[in-house]
Amino acid sequence: MLGNFTYCNPTKLYFGKDALNGLNEELPKYGKNVLLVYGGGSIKKNGIYDKVVAILKANGKNVYEDAGVMPNPTVEKLNEGIERAKKAKADLILAVGGGSVCDYAKAVSVSVNCNDDAWDKYFIRFEEPTCDIIPVGCVLTMVGTGSEMNGGSVITNHAQKLKIGHVFWEKVFPKFSVMNPEFTFTLPEYQMVSGIYDIMSHILEQYFSGTDDNTSDYIMEGLLRSLIHSADIAVENPADYEARSNIMWTATWALNTLVAKGKSTDWMVHMLGQAVAAYTDATHGMTLAAVTMPYYKYILPYGTAKFARYAVNVWNVNPKGKTQEQIANEGLTAMEKWMRKIGLVMNITELGATKEMLDGMVKSTLVMDGGYKVMNEKDIRAVLQESF
Ligand code: NZQ
Ligand code: ZN
Repeated sequence: MLGNFTYCNPTKLYFGKDALNGLNEELPKYGKNVLLVYGGGSIKKNGIYDKVVAILKANGKNVYEDAGVMPNPTVEKLNEGIERAKKAKADLILAVGGGSVCDYAKAVSVSVNCNDDAWDKYFIRFEEPTCDIIPVGCVLTMVGTGSEMNGGSVITNHAQKLKIGHVFWEKVFPKFSVMNPEFTFTLPEYQMVSGIYDIMSHILEQYFSGTDDNTSDYIMEGLLRSLIHSADIAVENPADYEARSNIMWTATWALNTLVAKGKSTDWMVHMLGQAVAAYTDATHGMTLAAVTMPYYKYILPYGTAKFARYAVNVWNVNPKGKTQEQIANEGLTAMEKWMRKIGLVMNITELGATKEMLDGMVKSTLVMDGGYKVMNEKDIRAVLQESF
């Protein structure tokens, strides 16, 4: 049965080859000072930076820059960004990049006018902002996180060995996002594939929960089929616009809060992956891929019927004459084969994790209670151990 919910997604999207023109519609809505936030320089190499700055100038904006947002943005960088935004008296924060840049922009946006320590308030105590929030807009260049249309913001604190995400309420969602699939063509294959798995994991972690008949589960099966189909094409030919645009759109729907409405959700693959990243700083989607099989094999006995449904509806497993358990296992086998085929990292050793990190990673794993099994420390240790 669908639980009770409210649903609101205020982000306006501009999608397609001309999407950047959307900036001309959006920029006049905000004051003169724009803080342009970006990463390590990919946007300078591929020309997106020049295009964005030209539009900002044409709209009469004062452009202030905050560059060097790293993948898995850190709390130190966040504190630097807060100071930069203050100095610029930013009226709009324009994030041009992937999930890291968009997440970071949101974290800065809720912290500039906040008197509290941002890390403690938002990422340890999970409080909502009580101060004025600076509006954020995004120009997306890397596909996977869904950050372009959600309130998620993930920050890493290396000193505390924690990588933590806060899912903020709607006021923190980007006001608008520009999504041109061609902007993702310059992504290295490793990043593209990592993003594809991030999308898949977002869907699966909302799918593997509950025993009710829920519309969202049917939507998610459709999204998964589309994703697998397009991923196969994109891996063969990264410049296939049709496949890349479908992947981009699937990413948004995977995590713009819609499919979670009215149902419980799991999220343990992300909690495990984030603990691995807190120790290794590895690429987000790869941390998820590396713990996925051990985790799903571990919880399969607690949710066998759903795993069997997944096998049939997503992986076309023929159920005839087989037990639910056999069907469910065949589904995971098909998924594992596909994951290896598209080039995902299937163990945490390859990501730099060592046995000495195990105790710490177990402690850094937050426990969620919406999946088929509420994990205890022993369970988490077993899954991580299996992930080496
Ligand atoms: O920094 P630059 O030079 O731009 O390079 C980036 C970076 O090295 C590069 N890149 C991005 N667009 C490119 C490009 N290279 C060439 N051409 C382009 N068009 O790709 C690298 C990775 O970028 P990043 O933004 O880190 O990737 P992603 O989008 O996967 O974001 C990862 C972050 O998002 C968080 C993750 O935890 C991680 O911190 N997440 C955010 C979520 C949310 N907001 O809801 C949910 C996700 O589960 C995730 O946790
Ligand atoms: Zn993710």
